[in-house]
Amino acid sequence: MYIQRTTNDNYESLIHDITGKVGKEMAMIEVKNVTKSFGTLTVLKNFNVEFNQEGVTVLLGPSGTGKSTLLRCINGLETVDEGDILVNGRSVKEKKNLRDIRLDCGMVFQRTVLFPHLNVMQNLTMSPVKLLKMDKAKAEEKAIYYLKKVGLESKAKALHNELSGGEQQRIAIARALMMNPKALLLDEITSALDPEMTSEVLKILENLAAEGVCMLCVTHEMQFAKHAASRIIFMDKGSMEADVTAEEFFSTVRKENERIAKFLNFIGE
Ligand SMILES: Nc1ncnc2c1ncn2[C@@H]1O[C@H](COP(=O)(O)OP(=O)(O)OP(=O)(O)O)[C@@H](O)[C@H]1O
Ligand SMILES: [Mg+2]
Repeated sequence: MYIQRTTNDNYESLIHDITGKVGKEMAMIEVKNVTKSFGTLTVLKNFNVEFNQEGVTVLLGPSGTGKSTLLRCINGLETVDEGDILVNGRSVKEKKNLRDIRLDCGMVFQRTVLFPHLNVMQNLTMSPVKLLKMDKAKAEEKAIYYLKKVGLESKAKALHNELSGGEQQRIAIARALMMNPKALLLDEITSALDPEMTSEVLKILENLAAEGVCMLCVTHEMQFAKHAASRIIFMDKGSMEADVTAEEFFSTVRKENERIAKFLNFIGE
């Protein structure tokens, strides 16, 4: 059972759209006993986790611990070796499901490449028009709505190479939102940015979080984790070390869990 995707041409109901819940009793993303290896290196080990469409979950953990691999498996960019992942009830193991899974989970990476030959407006409207069969004028109206949200309405005609790194990431967020995803998967989207651009992008994420947009973020930005996250998952060597509220993570867990205390000290938190 899953909710059918529809083309929503009414941009005023967009935020309602992205916060529209999947079946109450069903998790939006179910990672079930997933094992994933690259050659002899096992990156995810019998990994289990569920994400409901609720708030911001921050994934933390040392480098190489499998955070990106988990997000890539959820989005079907990597295959799982054992176990399964269901997104809105659909298995990532079935190729025919991947289109809908990627529509349900918009993904933004550390360096998101916009189509270089298209301007910002065209970057934003291309997929909704082609894949969701959205009317072009409606798509443009919707693009302006999201450009305003990310504070870049004036850049509609700009090309990729005319934008700063922070602006490119903000456009990438807007482009992901154009597809009415049920959740955003964000993989270190500020880690290639200077502090000023980082804070611009994080502010946009915080605003979206306050509007109820569901996000699963890998980040090393602890202030963001403290302010915006409702849940923190700490991964270490492909396993889950903690899955707690942000409040618990930065109070009791950091005192009681040596591994986590060491990680937080290491990154200067
Ligand atoms: N396509 C691949 N082929 C081979 N090894 C890979 C591949 N992708 C990831 N790995 C390895 O899997 C391990 C986990 O990588 P992953 O990118 O998931 O880590 P991460 O937790 O996101 O780390 P970071 O914080 O540095 O981004 C690493 O040792 C990495 O080298
Ligand atoms: Mg990574």
